[in-house]
Amino acid sequence: MGDLTTERSSATGTAPVLVASNRGPVSFGTADDGTLTLRRGGGGLVSGLSAIDDPNAVWVCAALGAADRRAAAEAPDGRLDRAGHDVGGQAVRMLDIDPDTFACAYNGVANSTLWFVHHLLYATPTAPSFDADFRTEWAAYTAYNTAFAEALAAEAAPGAAVLVQDYHLSLTPALLRAARPDLRIGHFSHTPWAPPDYYRLLPDDVARAVLTGILGADRAGFLTRRWALAFADCCEELLGAVVDREALTVTLTGPSAGETRTTRLGVHALGADADFLRERAHRPDVDERLAVLREAVGGRRTIVRVDRTELSKNIVRGLQAYRHLLRTRPEWHDRVVHIAFAYPSRTDLAEYRAYTAEVRRLAGEIDAEFATDTWKPLILHVDDDFPRSLAAYRLADVALVNPIRDGMNLVAKEVPVVSDHGCALVLSREAGAHAELAEDALTVNPYDVIATADALHAGLTMAEEERADRTKRLAAAATALPPQQWFLDQLSAL
Ligand code: G6P
Repeated sequence: MGDLTTERSSATGTAPVLVASNRGPVSFGTADDGTLTLRRGGGGLVSGLSAIDDPNAVWVCAALGAADRRAAAEAPDGRLDRAGHDVGGQAVRMLDIDPDTFACAYNGVANSTLWFVHHLLYATPTAPSFDADFRTEWAAYTAYNTAFAEALAAEAAPGAAVLVQDYHLSLTPALLRAARPDLRIGHFSHTPWAPPDYYRLLPDDVARAVLTGILGADRAGFLTRRWALAFADCCEELLGAVVDREALTVTLTGPSAGETRTTRLGVHALGADADFLRERAHRPDVDERLAVLREAVGGRRTIVRVDRTELSKNIVRGLQAYRHLLRTRPEWHDRVVHIAFAYPSRTDLAEYRAYTAEVRRLAGEIDAEFATDTWKPLILHVDDDFPRSLAAYRLADVALVNPIRDGMNLVAKEVPVVSDHGCALVLSREAGAHAELAEDALTVNPYDVIATADALHAGLTMAEEERADRTKRLAAAATALPPQQWFLDQLSAL
């Protein structure tokens, strides 16, 4: 008994709090002279975790590219902080996962399969088709999830709290629980969850493994009640789990008697980081870009959208709606400019490259149809420039956020916070943010191009005072749960 205890404690780490996500807080590049260069990322998770001031907290993430892998391989146990990298005061363990395994797990399963299922993205007459290649990818996804579980098990102190993030890591909670039953494990889905009829597209064993993987957590978090209930529906229908929709619990009885476990579901609607955004949006680099945009817009009204070039963001139908607006309401000719920033994402996937090409093609058509010597109806950029995005937020008269389906959509929450003089928000009812912002947004069905064009018109013609009032209320709702509190709430609920 004594020996066992010693064995276990020597096998455990010292971190009282751990976060696990595919994409970590830093990434590496290689400079001309061959040295590694470090870049810090942003986003809700990064600012959320900054609420933890325990120096022993550890963030476990994957090496995403060759330079990351080199950094991870060179650091002792992949611990970037111990290799002298300035990772922002946090301890970061970056996993040097074999590149083929990583590609199959990230591109094949996470982004081409689970992401497509949760966002309802398949053109089902031809896709998906779960063939032998998929089985190779699934084996890689399992290995990748196992690598995370092993690293977490090695770093975690006895009884530690572990917060596992997103669809990349749906198997990790159950794998980790098997290795370290002493831990408190949370999982958080940043995506929507598919309804059961669509979720069933997955092969039966895969569908069950993803659900039971997450149910390995003590608590499974979602961005809205809608996504939490969809998850519960899938557990009920596919696993025969017992669901309590009031208490938000899922109880699963295992294959052998007595193996009953209950997972609590939680809803945490990540909000915008107002302090950060307001400060960042008024730095000189943003002001410079704002001046450039103002010059290009020339006093006309603006419709702004900012997205990853992402299939679920519905950029193509957004452009179609703008074209419909210009075709059917010629009074807007020369009086409006659509600013569309779509920065690159997941370009390893053919679907994403084709989608970006379609966005460019349609933008070209709109330009050809309406542009004059003095008026460019559309400013499209497909590269990333965060200060330029903030400048567009400040300038927007109308923000267009029309995803097919979205876990939350932080742009919808950020624009009202940063807006200089009030901005009408055209918002898809399929975005998680709609649950909180519906009252003061102009709601659209993302598939209805004509209704979207009508909403753009309503936004453009909204009285200034009404627009300012709505923006104030939108900003208040959007910042109700800032990232640090979002993170701490999950931690204390564990
Ligand atoms: C979504 C996912 C995140 C992901 C992000 C960017 O928000 O929920 O997990 O990190 O998209 O996608 P990427 O594939 O570039 O990490």
